[in-house]
Amino acid sequence: MTPAAFEVFATLLKSRSGLAIGPDKLYLLETRLAPLLRAHNIVDLEALALALRGGGNAMLAAAVVEAMTTNETFFFRDDKPFVHFRGQVLPQLAASRPPGAGLRFWSAAASTGQEAYSLAMIAAEGQALLGGRRVEIVGTDIAREPLARARAGLYTQFEVQRGVPMTALVKHFRKEQEGWRIAEPLRAMVSFREWNLLADLRPLGQFDTIFCRNVLIYFDQPTKSRVLEAIAERLAPDGVLYLGGAETILGLTERLVAAPGGHGVYRRANAAAPLSTAVPSAAAVSLGAIASAMKAINASAATPTDSRPVSSLRSGAAGAS
Ligand SMILES: C[S@@+](CC[C@H](N)C(=O)[O-])C[C@H]1O[C@@H](n2cnc3c(N)ncnc32)[C@H](O)[C@@H]1O
Repeated sequence: MTPAAFEVFATLLKSRSGLAIGPDKLYLLETRLAPLLRAHNIVDLEALALALRGGGNAMLAAAVVEAMTTNETFFFRDDKPFVHFRGQVLPQLAASRPPGAGLRFWSAAASTGQEAYSLAMIAAEGQALLGGRRVEIVGTDIAREPLARARAGLYTQFEVQRGVPMTALVKHFRKEQEGWRIAEPLRAMVSFREWNLLADLRPLGQFDTIFCRNVLIYFDQPTKSRVLEAIAERLAPDGVLYLGGAETILGLTERLVAAPGGHGVYRRANAAAPLSTAVPSAAAVSLGAIASAMKAINASAATPTDSRPVSSLRSGAAGAS
């Protein structure tokens, strides 16, 4: 591929999704875009770059951006953030919010939905602690196909084996011919929207907890800063942000600081009531049962305050660009 053709892809991806690719990622373009070339009957990447030049083909450009996203995810991924959320953040939120006040959680790069549904399982298990509060979980992503899967809430045997404890599987999924479907009470808690993290995030409202994991790694430093600052604004004053294991705020924003008690956990720098390091309450400890079960299953797996409900926002691809 000529450097000029490579530049067409690099510029498109950087401006549309934040994905930063250098010439060493040529193989990634070749492997990820091969099915798109076949589907559109385009002879090679050079010809695709030509078709994209000038920005006239919006649908093709969107298809390239989507094809280049990495959608790898699984239930209770990395374990620790969910243990921390269950044991510390949830009890603290339940204690600090007035009775009846709802809670909002955001899975900001939701992919096929496992992260959002993992949070929903924890919220469902914690109903006693939450005192019947309404919990709203919003999953957003730039990629449409993964989002369609997330909305369907249907997972293969392999996917549920990758992280769902047996007790949770029985309780929160229904067996169907094609796989395991998330049960209705959980699905009622979760909604998915197409949303670009580079777009205006304000219409999404404010969140008590944000999981934005394993997406910043694909951005360059200025884009990471920009996204982190916009996300910090979406966080409730005492809210908590989780990043992925290879992600950090260091050198990127001063609006966030590390929260005590967990790696990759952050709060707003000017937080009104910072997250305490207190030992989890008895109710929270009882939630630890799901964590133990989770570990056991993982070990034995055969294979590896605006507070507007999102439902009140206009539907469609708002925020996507
Ligand atoms: C590796 S997955 C992470 C899924 C989940 N958060 C986890 O940690 O398991 C990264 C997701 O980020 C999404 N993504 C990439 N760029 C994005 C952007 N600019 N706005 C929103 N989502 C984006 C991709 O489509 C992909 O589904």
